[in-house]
Amino acid sequence: MNKQDAHARAESLLKQMTVEEKIAQMTQISYAGCTREEALMWAERGAGSFLHVLGDDAREIQQTALHTRLGIPVLFGIDAVHGHCLNRDAAIFPSQLSMACSFNPELPKKIGRATAEEVAEDGLHWTFAPVLCLARDPRWGRVDETFGEDPYLAGEMGAAMIRGFQGDQLDDPESILACAKHYIAYGEAVGARDACDTEVTMRKVREVFLPPFRKAMEADCATVMTAYGSLDGTPLTLHEEVLKRVLRDELGFKGFVVTDWDNVNSLITNQHVCADMEDASVKAAQAGNDMMMRTKEFYEAAVAACKDGRLSMEQVDTAVMHILTVKAELGLLDYPEKPCRKGRIGCEEHRALALDAAREGLVLLRNNGMLPLKGAKKIAVIGPNADDIRAQYGDWTYFTHPMNNPDETEPQRPYTTVLEGMGNVFTDAEIVYHKGCDVMNRTPSDLEGAVAAAKGCDAIVLVLGDTIQQAGETHDRADLSLTGDQDALFRKLRALGIPMTVVLMSSKPLCIPAEAAEADALVVAFNGGMAGGQAIAELLAGKIAPVGRLPISFPVHTGQIPVYYNSLTGWHGGKYEDQPAEPLFAFGEGLGYTTFAYSDLAFDPETLQLTVTVTNTGDVEGTETVQAYLRDVVSSVMTPVKKFVAFTKVTLNAGESKTVSLPLSRESFSLINAKEQQVVEPGEFLLMAGHSSKDADLLTLSVQMA
Ligand code: NOJ
Repeated sequence: MNKQDAHARAESLLKQMTVEEKIAQMTQISYAGCTREEALMWAERGAGSFLHVLGDDAREIQQTALHTRLGIPVLFGIDAVHGHCLNRDAAIFPSQLSMACSFNPELPKKIGRATAEEVAEDGLHWTFAPVLCLARDPRWGRVDETFGEDPYLAGEMGAAMIRGFQGDQLDDPESILACAKHYIAYGEAVGARDACDTEVTMRKVREVFLPPFRKAMEADCATVMTAYGSLDGTPLTLHEEVLKRVLRDELGFKGFVVTDWDNVNSLITNQHVCADMEDASVKAAQAGNDMMMRTKEFYEAAVAACKDGRLSMEQVDTAVMHILTVKAELGLLDYPEKPCRKGRIGCEEHRALALDAAREGLVLLRNNGMLPLKGAKKIAVIGPNADDIRAQYGDWTYFTHPMNNPDETEPQRPYTTVLEGMGNVFTDAEIVYHKGCDVMNRTPSDLEGAVAAAKGCDAIVLVLGDTIQQAGETHDRADLSLTGDQDALFRKLRALGIPMTVVLMSSKPLCIPAEAAEADALVVAFNGGMAGGQAIAELLAGKIAPVGRLPISFPVHTGQIPVYYNSLTGWHGGKYEDQPAEPLFAFGEGLGYTTFAYSDLAFDPETLQLTVTVTNTGDVEGTETVQAYLRDVVSSVMTPVKKFVAFTKVTLNAGESKTVSLPLSRESFSLINAKEQQVVEPGEFLLMAGHSSKDADLLTLSVQMA
């Protein structure tokens, strides 16, 4: 239904609603937080939304809602962030961070679509994804949920994913609502301590954190989630400037805003800016939050506040109009459950997509010629994450967020671990396996056992990383070194002198300077989803070529953070006395099984097209991700040493050359000035194109902009 009709439909409902019914629409109930009877009572009251309820439980609630006076259907939300992963039958895709390695927006778009089909089949309507926070401090627990450190890449990938979830029309049978979260600057909390204060100015918010949300609005994202934290001491839940002036007036957001989990209550308990629930409810609603997640006490407090005039009816009506208009646009008022196809949950097509996605997410960072691995007769597969599906899946699956039956959290097939993938792919080789140690030393290590297993092998594949206990909310880390005996395991195996590939299966960059320097090959796999192990084995065998690039920089040492590529310059080079100036790996890095050369960088000031010729200088076909960066040479405020502005992919046969175009826009050249205005300041700009964000990988051209 188009926006105009949806608005009219919402308006006619609003006119018939009592105060209680309006406030109920603004209340979102956590199914896990109440008994079945309570859930049905909330449905009878007309609660606008429930979260974390699946299938028949959701259907029962919906039936109750449909039999209320106005029969307004409940909107069901779920964290389907890399697939409909809280449903154990679903296709489990790679994490957002892994998806970002593809530098291919078509991928999150397809994953968004597949996820929407699965969510819709479960009778649900809304996913709390994508995450548009930036991961500029890898100590943060939620790095895996992001598209990495760069605003432009996150915006491109996020907007594509939103288009996948929401389809061409929200009322298509298999479209669901997307949610741009967490608004805003949540990933930059001080010290990477989850949900603490973010000490940045509004200028910085606009320059760094807002662009992905702007892209989300251009993609017509239907909902936005308010972050937990605070910005310079003002809880985001109460931040009228970002919730109203920036989001509504400037970005033109027309959908509804939902708070994050119990944000209203946190105004009292964690943030100490409200005295009681009525105070918190009034302030959260007045600031522009339309729906309150999980805080059911909001209902009575807000009804009372409306009656005694402390909460304005105008504000309540605005919020309810936002919610009902989205419900109407989604088709929910006509179809409480989408008339979608059945049999899509975990279907073969989605499993094939999960494999493609895992392949595109692999990043080869070192290779002294060991890979592709040919002719090995006996291969040792070693390490704590070689056969651990939980580590491979990462956060936000039925392991980490069990829903209805928390005791039944055994892994459910189909999935393929690295060990299994190696067996599938290297059919002519003998595969020996030893775990060696735990990621966190929960069980005794057996380093000698691992060494004994590896002796006599032609190759070692060592799979290291982190575990699901080391990622997610409340799991920020002060030290990003490999934990447990993983480094010791690496050293002992390395001492054997057998060709060794290290695979890093982790939720985020870890500090692995020894592995990077000494392994024969290094592959970063992050959390690759159900087919992650198969994809890794295929890459090692050369059945597929590595195409991934890093969407996030890797520090050499935790104390070297921040190491994001788009820093501002410092007087003394911004270098620590005891650390190198450069990160271990920079944004955009990643090798293939061939090499590329760049030439003829040119710019057309009329069309703003940057062109560059790329030549495959190796012996085999390969795909390059051509990256463009820009530097403003003299500006009224300091600007980053480089800013990522465009990318494209090109596949070339051995020896082949092609000239590729990278379209820039006026916006690419803009900055946020001291008055918080987005402007292009005339003068010289350096345009760069090449293989990664590293200076040595880029050709540079000076241009003038009027
Ligand atoms: C809290 C998380 O911060 C958010 O990302 C998630 O969507 C909600 N809980 C609902 O589970």
